[in-house]
Amino acid sequence: MKVSTTIAEVRSQVKEWKRQGLSVGLVPTMGYLHEGHQSLIARAARENDRVVVSVFVNPIQFGPSEDLESYPRDFERDCTLCEKTGADLVFHPEASEMYAENFCTYVDMDRLTKGLCGASRPVHFRGVCTVVSKLFHIVTPDRAYFGQKDAQQLAVIKRMVRDLSMDVEIVGCPIIREPDGLAKSSRNTYLSPQERRAAVVLSQALAEGRKALAEGERSAQAITGIIRGVLESEPLAQPEYVELVDWETLEPVETADRPVLAAIAVRIGTTRLIDNFVFEEGPECN
Ligand code: PAF
Repeated sequence: MKVSTTIAEVRSQVKEWKRQGLSVGLVPTMGYLHEGHQSLIARAARENDRVVVSVFVNPIQFGPSEDLESYPRDFERDCTLCEKTGADLVFHPEASEMYAENFCTYVDMDRLTKGLCGASRPVHFRGVCTVVSKLFHIVTPDRAYFGQKDAQQLAVIKRMVRDLSMDVEIVGCPIIREPDGLAKSSRNTYLSPQERRAAVVLSQALAEGRKALAEGERSAQAITGIIRGVLESEPLAQPEYVELVDWETLEPVETADRPVLAAIAVRIGTTRLIDNFVFEEGPECN
């Protein structure tokens, strides 16, 4: 497995692969990899001849009061994990390689980015769309893999690819959970043992919402009320939002009469965690 820190090196490696007729999968990450990332890399390795994993803590997707400085990092461990999971190239640029001095061009999106996490993180999705577009230009992947855990991000990237006619297939992959149900996240490391025990309430609350939907409840108010009720039973949990939205447009719905995303953001102490499920009639897709 090769590690590259420059755009030029990645471009020349990918050009060589393409010259040989090989397909390329991309797994964009911010590092501190866990089993969730590993499942994306493993799937990319199954579906492509070559796999590029980017490890880059993207400064422009963090707001001024967010955790850019403290975001966990362990590049050596990331490389070991990438290699054993089937990556061929790790792209690990410095911020100055990705954003030249006086960088001032962004990819921005209306509507889908305004609600859910976008309501409290106003620059986040502009940063995500910009870095992901750059990675697509640099790596020119046939397929790119994103976790369903960041459901809004997945919907936003699918929309960006559609709206800007980008030639890449976006593959959404299921949430990977701890045995007690907590969705895997690099930010779980911020939790104290007591907070970690409390954090299980996110998946428990969503399970109750999903059960109500499965039993035929269709009122968004009723479903979000059930989810909120479970969250409020945990004294350490402070819900930021509990929403039921259209899975494609991310607009709030009153009735779950189409594929819907139930999404929550909850503070456990100072750590902000997110989780979700997608519900549609027939076979479940999350
Ligand atoms: O999901 C993430 O880790 C990041 O938002 C991404 C897609 C790698 C862009 O920096």
